[in-house]
Amino acid sequence: MKKILFAASESVPFIKTGGLADVIGSLPKYFDKEKYDVRIVLPKYLCISEEYRKQMEYLTHFYMYYNGRNRYVGILRIDYEGIPCYFIDNEEYFGGSEPYGDHLYNLEKFGFFSKAVLAILPSIEFQPDIIHCHDWHTGLVPVYLRTQFAADEFYTDMKSIITIHNLRFQGNYSIEKIKEITGLPDYLFTPDKLEAYQDANYLKGGIVYADRVTTVSETYTEEIKTPFYGERLEGLLWARSNSLSGILNGLDYDEWNPATDPFIAQRFTISNFRQKKKKNKAALQDELGLARDPKAMMVGIVSRMTDQKGFDLIQRVMEEMVDEGIQFVVLGTGEWKYEEMFKQFAARFPRQVSANIFYSNDLSHRIYASCDAFLMPSLFEPCGLSQLMSLRYGTVPIVRETGGLKDTVEPYNEYENTGTGFSFTNYNAHEMLEAVRYAKSVYTDNKRRWNQIIDRGMAQDFSWAASAVKYEALYDEMLREEEPEADAPAEETPAEEAAEE
Ligand code: ADP
Ligand code: GLC
Repeated sequence: MKKILFAASESVPFIKTGGLADVIGSLPKYFDKEKYDVRIVLPKYLCISEEYRKQMEYLTHFYMYYNGRNRYVGILRIDYEGIPCYFIDNEEYFGGSEPYGDHLYNLEKFGFFSKAVLAILPSIEFQPDIIHCHDWHTGLVPVYLRTQFAADEFYTDMKSIITIHNLRFQGNYSIEKIKEITGLPDYLFTPDKLEAYQDANYLKGGIVYADRVTTVSETYTEEIKTPFYGERLEGLLWARSNSLSGILNGLDYDEWNPATDPFIAQRFTISNFRQKKKKNKAALQDELGLARDPKAMMVGIVSRMTDQKGFDLIQRVMEEMVDEGIQFVVLGTGEWKYEEMFKQFAARFPRQVSANIFYSNDLSHRIYASCDAFLMPSLFEPCGLSQLMSLRYGTVPIVRETGGLKDTVEPYNEYENTGTGFSFTNYNAHEMLEAVRYAKSVYTDNKRRWNQIIDRGMAQDFSWAASAVKYEALYDEMLREEEPEADAPAEETPAEEAAEE
């Protein structure tokens, strides 16, 4: 049995701000349980809902030296859908009303979390073969593993992976401060290790010290080796090319299933979406106070509102898109200027634009189920899950060809009648507008074709099945490298090969 520990800052159903939580909360369920014992460790945020906090079983606690003193490390556990989930408790660090807050304090608390992830292992009697870390929050796990924990036999054989879900966030700050907080030795803060552009950088530490580095789509893996997408770490990523690979995210097909979804007005499948999606659309138009117009193309946006997601393009041509008579249903929070833009459009066009500036899992399901199209013109997109949810719910994605969007949405080709969505190449508002207009023309003038695009989209399989197998292969390969020489099958000599032929 191979033992794998996932360490991350968020996971469905406990705490979620973006796709990372969807991945952590679903991927572990899809490993072969006979061969892989996969567990998860998360911070025990006070803002996890009471429903889950009261299910947590207290295991033990101890004190760990960190940032100048001994600090409380409590350990709790829930077995969720067969996966043991451990929670690291320290109210000083994880007591806030949201998982992330002040930048420097984030660095301090996730440094604490990373060290605690290793420190709790003897207490929970789990000695993972591989610690699978996710994003900058856990970037220091591989670093602590190879430094402060290296002398302890318990940790000697442990390997680590870091998966980059988003290179934009690296966790950097002045070296002096990070040294002081983390207690990591001086020799780590050099340009070949944790230092990047005069600062200490958690993610860089993870990329340097992890045995393997992965990202969440193949295209993004290639993109981040270039200056445009590399967020100033392209040199390092290029240098680590041999240990870097891309494995596409999947979707939890149980949670995201239009045939069983408890949040939507009308459940549907690939065989009856033609009638049922119309009813969902009317229900959402009613719910949000939009004009009950079956003919208006309804475009959904469910997203963190940051420049990553292409909101600059949307802002640039929102007026034109509204002029086209398109209905917009927007759900998201983030930068003030984008929130404000949607609020203003909603105020000007209350029957045409619905701006929902908050977080709501339930409403997100209804948007995926009810809209005709989904707009995701990202500047960069490591994988993207929203377009997968859209495909699954028969909502046609309109995307920019980058990262995982490029790998999952096949552009409609009217000559061959192929494709599952619409796309454009350059980060340019008018190219996006053209793609939207093109989609609208098919939607309006050629319903048969439009429905065939939906047919093909709904028939795609972006469940975890294929990707979990790739992670298993990666784990196997890493652990094979560990096996002593004698166990490895002897290579055939040329003479033996010849004899077999
Ligand atoms: P990212 O992780 O970069 O935010 P993804 O597309 O991978 O992008 O995942 C985003 C996830 O967050 C999706 O599950 C999406 O439905 C969800 N989401 C984003 N904003 C909201 C919101 N305001 N309410 C509900 N769900 C949201
Ligand atoms: C990140 C990326 C997104 C990806 C998600 C899960 O937040 O922005 O593209 O789907 O992580 O891997």
